Amino acid sequence: MNIILLGPPGAGKGTQARRLTEKMGLPQISTGEILREAQNKGTELGRQAALFMKEGKLVPDEVVIGIIAERLKQADCRKGYILDGFPRTLSQAQALKKILDENGSRVNVVLNFKIPDADVVRRLSGRRVCTECGTGYHVAFSPSKTTGKCDRCSGSLVQRDDDREETIQKRLSVYHQQTAPLIDFYRSQDLLKDVDGVGELPVVFKRMDDALGMT
Ligand code: AP5
Repeated sequence: MNIILLGPPGAGKGTQARRLTEKMGLPQISTGEILREAQNKGTELGRQAALFMKEGKLVPDEVVIGIIAERLKQADCRKGYILDGFPRTLSQAQALKKILDENGSRVNVVLNFKIPDADVVRRLSGRRVCTECGTGYHVAFSPSKTTGKCDRCSGSLVQRDDDREETIQKRLSVYHQQTAPLIDFYRSQDLLKDVDGVGELPVVFKRMDDALGMT
């Protein structure tokens, strides 16, 4: 099963993708995570991507399409995957279709997480991420047991560079201009299912499960 998680920054795509990965045994493929990993390793890709990411802009299509084309060839993707943060433009969606067509595969479902812009700002400004294992927390909505330490691995929790208020506003505007058109693109192919992203984590997970027809 090939699943796309669509939605504004902070909609809960990463958080719910991790839970879905545990339940379905499919890999979570997050272009944001891949790009941040490249930055941490100091690769040329990471250096180039950082120039766009720190300003809340999208990394150029050809770069992320290349990353996804390579990632989907890996063995763990044979039974399907959960795409978190890709595609984000119409060009990326068309490129994904081409890659899948060539492999006789297809997108099975697109889950569109819906949350108001005001919630995006509240969620992202309070987000903290583990530097070691990437687990996400929120200072108010899902805090770690020990302040500043990851529950899973005791790694340090930090704020992402692009989670500052002015960058959040820029990312939101980029979402509305460049990514939101994908809603109609996938709805017109009868692949889109809306998921109300506002509510407690288990409640949103249950809605996602229902949309996937798994409960
Ligand atoms: P990326 O890492 O993909 O960031 P994003 O889409 O902006 O998504 P986020 O990770 O901010 O939000 P999320 O929906 O995953 O929410 P989360 O679960 O963490 O991309 C970063 C950058 O990389 C982009 O700006 C761009 O530059 C580049 N990039 C990536 N992909 C690209 C592409 N395809 N093309 C071009 N450029 C690309 O939750 C957020 C917070 O809310 C957390 O604190 C969480 O604990 C909390 N939370 C989650 N759910 C709930 C809930 N139900 N109630 C209360 N709090 C909640």
